[in-house]
Amino acid sequence: MRTLITNGTVVNADGSLLADVLVDGETIALVGQGLAARGVTAERTIDATDKYVIPGAIDVHTHMELPFGGTFAKDTFETGSRAAAFGGTTTILDFAVQSKGHSLREGLDTWLAKAEGNTCVDYGFHMIMSDVTDASLAEMDALIEEGVTDFKLFTAYPGVFYSDDGAIFRAMQRAAGNGGLIMMHAENGMAIDVVASQNADAGRTDPYYHGLSHPPVFEGEATHRVIRLAEAAGSAVYIVHLSAREALDAVREARDRGTPAYAETCPQYLFLSLDDLRNGFEGAKFVCSPPLRPKEHWAELWKGLRADDLQVVSTDHCPFDFHGQKELGRGDFRKIPNGLPAVEDRLDLMHDGGVVGGRISRERWVEVCSTAPARMFGLAGRKGVVAPGADADLVVYDPQRRHTISARTHHMDVDYSCYEGRTVQGGSDVVLLRGKVIVEDGEYRGAKGDGRFLKRQPTGAALR
Ligand code: URP
Ligand code: ZN
Ligand code: ZN
Repeated sequence: MRTLITNGTVVNADGSLLADVLVDGETIALVGQGLAARGVTAERTIDATDKYVIPGAIDVHTHMELPFGGTFAKDTFETGSRAAAFGGTTTILDFAVQSKGHSLREGLDTWLAKAEGNTCVDYGFHMIMSDVTDASLAEMDALIEEGVTDFKLFTAYPGVFYSDDGAIFRAMQRAAGNGGLIMMHAENGMAIDVVASQNADAGRTDPYYHGLSHPPVFEGEATHRVIRLAEAAGSAVYIVHLSAREALDAVREARDRGTPAYAETCPQYLFLSLDDLRNGFEGAKFVCSPPLRPKEHWAELWKGLRADDLQVVSTDHCPFDFHGQKELGRGDFRKIPNGLPAVEDRLDLMHDGGVVGGRISRERWVEVCSTAPARMFGLAGRKGVVAPGADADLVVYDPQRRHTISARTHHMDVDYSCYEGRTVQGGSDVVLLRGKVIVEDGEYRGAKGDGRFLKRQPTGAALR
């Protein structure tokens, strides 16, 4: 099956041009001006006049079905990845979880079983390491062979995912040898727990105190610490969901002295703020970790994105219904499951706030949402680019179309939206996954199980 996408503006990270794109089977065969006029034919033609043709977006940080806080993230691999497709995202990288006392292998098998046959876009896994032992360190090498090349560790959530500095350092040393990439959730969880208990004990139990119990200094300190540990271990490090100026300063200073430190931020840290938590228990809808920050941090994060001190925008999609799930924390903010829904909205929010808002170019928008994620996580050349030989994951994107985000119309399986009522400019008209149209005319045309597991190349050595 050949598809010809005509007369669109092809936007790649390194430039844009008016061109046609020929898809043959699952890959892009040709990108060039006037292909149709030069007699190239296809079974199907898609007119992209006045539209962008961009590489399918890649979200490297999702948590479908994550067990957290006595419940599970609401989106399954099916519902979450279908919502991703509606939002122009054709690849997700989710996190398999090693439970304490169990092997990495068991964790990976559990998550592979949840995803296989159910996922609507291509998918891969990072591995959350909850138990750093001689055995789990050795297992890292085997997982890398299978294309699970990154390992997330936490200085946060004591008693759950938390690792101490020694454990983190050992995992970094191993990654320095095997080429894996260490991803860090960097907040000082021990100090946070002290402040959170003091607030709760004093009767300050509203969601707002979740935010106040996680001050930016605790993120800055942990970010600085894990980067220093990576320097000592000789490994690269990738900071996930960076939210605060203090943490960005630590990344920027490290990069300025030549350290291979990388970081992502998320739309919630660019568009939402601590004020959203300050609304009685409604604020629970906005509880995530790190928490939303005062608005003053926004401009710094945008500056970091422009300067490439932040390379990636992911979502940290981890949705919990307000009713029945977030409500577990009524009367005690510490019991509110942490996480927000966003997988469907990222590309449009970044287009509207970034490109239309004049903060980043359309090429940088493609880079942070697609090209850099592919480069950082072992998919370069295959995903994240509109070029011959790449997978035909393509979005015909209308940069003028406006729509209003609402839980009534979104496709994520969650009963609220953090962006309820926000009108954004830009939307995905047609979405192709490896040459197959999966979204068109606002309808889902794919099938669960269309998504394939991605065996990825390790990038830790190349990023050093
Ligand atoms: O609040 C968040 N971020 N929930 C998901 C788990 C994590 O730390 O990424
Ligand atoms: Zn995290
Ligand atoms: Zn996360």
